Amino acid sequence: MSMEPRAGVLRLAPYQQGQSEIEGVSEPIKLSSNESSHGPSRAALAAYRDAASQLHRYPDGSQRSLCNAIAEVHDLKQELIICGNGSDELIQLMVRSYIGEGHESLQSENGFVMSRIHSIAQGADVVIAPEKNHRIDVDAMLSRVSDRTRFCTVANPNNPTGTYLTEDQIRRLHAGLPDNCLFLIDEAYAEYAMAPDYTTALAMVEEHDNVVVTRTFSKIYALSALRIGWAYCPAAIYDVVQRIRTPFNTNGPALAAAEAAIRDTDYIAGIASHNALWRDRIADELTAMGIEAIPSQANFYLMRFPDDSNKSGTGAAAFLQSRGIIPRPAGNGDQFLRVTIGLDAENEAVLSALRDYMAANEQ
Ligand SMILES: Cc1ncc(COP(=O)(O)O)c(C=O)c1O
Repeated sequence: MSMEPRAGVLRLAPYQQGQSEIEGVSEPIKLSSNESSHGPSRAALAAYRDAASQLHRYPDGSQRSLCNAIAEVHDLKQELIICGNGSDELIQLMVRSYIGEGHESLQSENGFVMSRIHSIAQGADVVIAPEKNHRIDVDAMLSRVSDRTRFCTVANPNNPTGTYLTEDQIRRLHAGLPDNCLFLIDEAYAEYAMAPDYTTALAMVEEHDNVVVTRTFSKIYALSALRIGWAYCPAAIYDVVQRIRTPFNTNGPALAAAEAAIRDTDYIAGIASHNALWRDRIADELTAMGIEAIPSQANFYLMRFPDDSNKSGTGAAAFLQSRGIIPRPAGNGDQFLRVTIGLDAENEAVLSALRDYMAANEQ
């Protein structure tokens, strides 16, 4: 008898990573994966280098020092924090712990692909709620809740739209979920959000037994290559997930660099304000060019080219690539393009290329 993988696994296509090269261009401007072109803080780099002297030792499986730093900086309970090999791994650990065949995993149209992948691999059915005006539609999600719904996730701010749910909306969504449904709020872009009615859901974790928040060091902290993120979970979920977490899922250099990175709050505040300045400027300039800028609270823009024109997301992507810039096709249909906000010169290059693309006669 030949071996058979679990049913869900064969329903999945292999993950396609964002493009990172352009043929013939030695140093492209890579704005396809919402990384931070600013790089990590100096303190994080120094900690990473220092960690080289300990490569022959296993890392601290308890992750204590990093959890302490996260708890101090965010005023959280250290004993409810779990670190993962990127927030990807934490999402996977939550899904593996709580859902399987016969269950439903609810997410929004633009939900982060990893929770869909892990849910399917577990044999669960993924239920997708449409979004309205590029925003997660709480009513559409709630109307899809069934007695099989065991997992519900939203990214806040969301990717690739950059839009967000207010605290009231998040709480209303949570209130409509059954108590036996884990509600995971993926806050990969939270540090960039500055809207007055945006609030992190970290406080909700201490109020409810079924709310988990994930964060990452891959975005504003610029440690994507090290693969490190963290989750804040209620005690019972913490206990379950710790049973299946492999003891050394987070490596030593990553733990050390992340600890220094999170303590360097001035550096992170500077990156967030730089991003917010560019966010406003890019929105104004795109609007002036006749491109719709979906209002973003993240470090990227989803832009929509006008329907009644010969301009499109794929046309713009090809044009930007001819200028050495890598954006990411995203959203529904061919009118959308997602571009990460980068350094001054990178953003100027994007705007200048888009101006020329919109002015050119060809598509
Ligand atoms: C919404 C969202 N969640 C999670 C992640 C994954 O982050 P990590 O690098 O921590 O696995 C990303 C990365 O692009 C993301 O966009």
